Amino acid sequence: MTAFTAWPSSPDGLVELYPRLPEPALRVNFIASVDGAVTVDGLSGGLHGPGDKEIFESLRMVCDALIVASGTVKAENYDALRLTPEARKWRLDHGLPEFPLMVIVSRSLNLDLDQLVFSDAPIRPIVLTCRGAPAERVAEVADVIAAGDDRVDLAAGVAALHERGATQLLSEGGPHLLGSLIEADLVTELCLTVSPMLVGGGPGRIAAGPATPQPRSMSLRHVLTLEDMLFLRYGR
Ligand SMILES: NC(=O)c1ccc[n+]([C@@H]2O[C@H](COP(=O)([O-])OP(=O)(O)OC[C@H]3O[C@@H](n4cnc5c(N)ncnc54)[C@H](OP(=O)(O)O)[C@@H]3O)[C@@H](O)[C@H]2O)c1
Repeated sequence: MTAFTAWPSSPDGLVELYPRLPEPALRVNFIASVDGAVTVDGLSGGLHGPGDKEIFESLRMVCDALIVASGTVKAENYDALRLTPEARKWRLDHGLPEFPLMVIVSRSLNLDLDQLVFSDAPIRPIVLTCRGAPAERVAEVADVIAAGDDRVDLAAGVAALHERGATQLLSEGGPHLLGSLIEADLVTELCLTVSPMLVGGGPGRIAAGPATPQPRSMSLRHVLTLEDMLFLRYGR
């Protein structure tokens, strides 16, 4: 039986609710409206509400690597992964590098290298691509991991991150990346924020792409609420 959990009174409480795990993990964080929309006017920002920023930042603080795909990097105009001074101190106090790795998934490598996610990065980002991709330009600003021949082999990419010591992985989307991660059976945890909005038809859901042959069942770890926001943590 999973109980409703009270919203924690301190940031440490969020770390206890969304901890680093003893085994390798790939945690996915998403926000959706109560009618299942993943964006408002093409962005997730319109869904935000009390509490989700705190969870978003806590998940980033405890991870070894943040994974995001190029569609989201472009749509959300991703900044560099810069944590608050308190979060950086927490990481150093817990024996972690000051910043997590930032991993950008792209097959085409049609990326704007002037975007802050590259040009303002506190540590060299990683671009996860495939061997057929033209990587010379990107290699000037990022470490390149080539996994798969003609398409990005996400399982091989995850294994490559594990080899670098990054076993606590956090994905911030988007829906095509989540669809591919589910297809490859790589998702170990889904942290879903339900925003109290009816957005209507138009935007897609949190997973996109081809149907997965076999649905994967998950277990509810906790339910948190703050005002009208709902925070669900599911694990495999
Ligand atoms: N509500 C939320 O929590 C949330 C979270 C994230 C994003 N979003 C929204 O979702 C939208 C973007 O999502 P999206 O689904 O269009 O893009 P996405 O999943 O972020 O990126 C997809 C792109 O990644 C690259 N890619 C390379 N290998 C891949 C693989 N194996 N599987 C999947 N993608 C691969 C491809 O681009 P190239 O090869 O051409 O580079 C592909 O088009 C935006 O509107 C954003 O605001 C919402």
